[in-house]
Amino acid sequence: MKSIVSDSYSVHFDKTAFEALNSHLSSQDYSSIFILVDENTHELCLPQFMSEITVDYNFEIIEIESGEVNKTIETCIGVWEALSELGADRKSLLINLGGGVLTDLGGFVASTFKRGINFINVPTTLLSMVDASVGGKTGIDLGPLKNQIGVINQP
Ligand SMILES: NC(=O)c1ccc[n+]([C@@H]2O[C@H](COP(=O)([O-])OP(=O)(O)OC[C@H]3O[C@@H](n4cnc5c(N)ncnc54)[C@H](O)[C@@H]3O)[C@@H](O)[C@H]2O)c1
Repeated sequence: MKSIVSDSYSVHFDKTAFEALNSHLSSQDYSSIFILVDENTHELCLPQFMSEITVDYNFEIIEIESGEVNKTIETCIGVWEALSELGADRKSLLINLGGGVLTDLGGFVASTFKRGINFINVPTTLLSMVDASVGGKTGIDLGPLKNQIGVINQP
C-alpha cells in the first residue's frame, strides 16, 4: 500500500510504516521518546512494535488504563506528570500506540504539554486505523460529554 503524503503529515502502511518510522527517528534530533500504551497494547502490541525499531533510543513507556471511561483530564494529568518526572522537554516525542481512546488522549496530551510536542500515532484497532489516528482531532471527554475538550493538531 502506498504512503499518503500531505503537507503537514504522512500516513504509512504495513512494513513501510516501520521503515518510515525508523527513518524519521534517525533523521530527527529528539531529546527523548515516550511511548504511550494501555495495559492491552502494552502486552499485545508493544513487543512487536519494539522488535521493528532499529534506531538506538532509550524509549520510556507510559501506561494508562484502557477504555472510554479513562479518556479524562485525570488521565491526562497522570501522563503530563509522568512526562515531567521523566524529563520530557519541548524536543521530546510522544508515540501513541493504541486505539482511538489512546490516540485521541495522547494527541491532546502532546499538543498541550509545554505548549506542544511532536506526536506519532500508531493505531492498533481498525477504528483508529481508518479514522481516529488521522485528521488531527485530539481530545478527551468531560463527564458524559464525549470529546468536549480538545484541539485540532496534526500528528
Ligand atoms: N479523533 C477522531 O477523529 C476519532 C474518530 C473516531 C473515533 N474516535 C474515538 O476513538 C475512540 C474509540 O476507539 P476504539 O474503537 O479504537 O476503542 P479503544 O481505543 O477504547 O480500544 C478498544 C479496546 O481495544 C484494546 N486494544 C487496542 N488495540 C488492541 C489490539 N491490537 N489487540 C487487542 N486489544 C486492543 C484497547 O486497550 C481497548 O480495551 C472513541 O473515544 C472515539 O471518540 C476519534
